[in-house]
Amino acid sequence: MIRVGVVGYGTIGKRVADAIAAQDDMKIVGVLKTKPDYGAMLALRRGFPVYTLPERVDEFRKAGVEPAGTIEDLIKASDVIVDASPEDVGRENKEKYYQKYGKPVIFQGGEEADVAEVSFNALANYEEARGRRYVRVVSCNTTGIIRALTALRLNGIGVRKARVFIVRRGADPKEFKRGPINDVVPNPVTVPSHHGPDVKTVLRDVDIVTVAVAVPVTIMHMHMAYFELDSPHSRDAVIEAIARTPRVYIAEAGRGLQSLAQIIELARDLGRARGDFPEIAVFGDSITVSGSELYMMYGVHQESIVVPENVDAVRAVLGALPKWASIEKTDRSLGLLAEGKRYGQLAPRP
Ligand SMILES: NC(=O)c1ccc[n+]([C@@H]2O[C@H](COP(=O)([O-])OP(=O)(O)OC[C@H]3O[C@@H](n4cnc5c(N)ncnc54)[C@H](OP(=O)(O)O)[C@@H]3O)[C@@H](O)[C@H]2O)c1
Repeated sequence: MIRVGVVGYGTIGKRVADAIAAQDDMKIVGVLKTKPDYGAMLALRRGFPVYTLPERVDEFRKAGVEPAGTIEDLIKASDVIVDASPEDVGRENKEKYYQKYGKPVIFQGGEEADVAEVSFNALANYEEARGRRYVRVVSCNTTGIIRALTALRLNGIGVRKARVFIVRRGADPKEFKRGPINDVVPNPVTVPSHHGPDVKTVLRDVDIVTVAVAVPVTIMHMHMAYFELDSPHSRDAVIEAIARTPRVYIAEAGRGLQSLAQIIELARDLGRARGDFPEIAVFGDSITVSGSELYMMYGVHQESIVVPENVDAVRAVLGALPKWASIEKTDRSLGLLAEGKRYGQLAPRP
């Protein structure tokens, strides 16, 4: 059993903790909260011991929550730490706590790439994480782009250039203080947005430019992608490549799936916890191929897309399972849509 500590139990941390608990080769040692609020109660109800920062112990006790220990106790009791604390706090935790111990740490995409030795995406570079001490699972949008590109590449369709236009959700559903309220905000106003360079931390050779705006939406991001392929390919070949790649779902308008809200409704109807949709949802009808030009649109569920990546990162750093065995195990345990998917080195088309 791999013993995992989760530092930060917010949008990402609580989902990662549940996903880790669903693995038969992993066990949650505990989760770290800084506030004894309903999230701490939720963790205790789930059976996860709650740890906190040393300076917060008294506050927890006053609130009637006896912490299982401090962050250093959590690190000592764990084989691997998943740090899902807010942007830039992971780096502070590294300097303050993680460096003292020899344990591997998985950071999230809110950290700068140099917090870790390697940036990670299971489909693209699982093996590179093996034996590393610090690994960073790239952000939601970056994971989405890497999955789209890797679905093609794993199936023998090279991409010479990628241009991705990103419509970012303005905030997560719980973030009542964030906007925009009635606006479309270049986010950032400069080109490229940080996502393109971030993709290159995993797929180093790709020629990519990204442009992003934020809109008053909380459910998902939408990407509009233009890929210049290495040579002309048929639309059928592209659809087949996407259809057999794990963690990529083709949504068809003819089946009532032509908007992001409908994707989330599908997730809820599937009975998925929190209405999560960790796959990228490619709108099949948007897949348009003209010679070596490919256009497509896909949705990225920011709250859950990185969850399976974190589970695989835990196995990858420890060398606990080979790439495809881990990806398949994670997908099946989380109930991802596996129909027609190939879990193995995907053979290039003849
Ligand atoms: N949300 C997304 O859409 C998304 C998608 C992909 C990646 N990410 C990345 O994932 C990371 C976490 O984001 P999130 O959205 O899950 O944040 P979040 O919802 O704000 O949760 C952050 C958690 O970290 C805890 N925390 C606060 N200060 C801490 C500290 N000093 N040490 C340890 N833990 C601390 C908070 O605990 P208390 O509540 O007790 O204070 C909270 O449980 C970020 O790097 C983010 O960029 C986010």
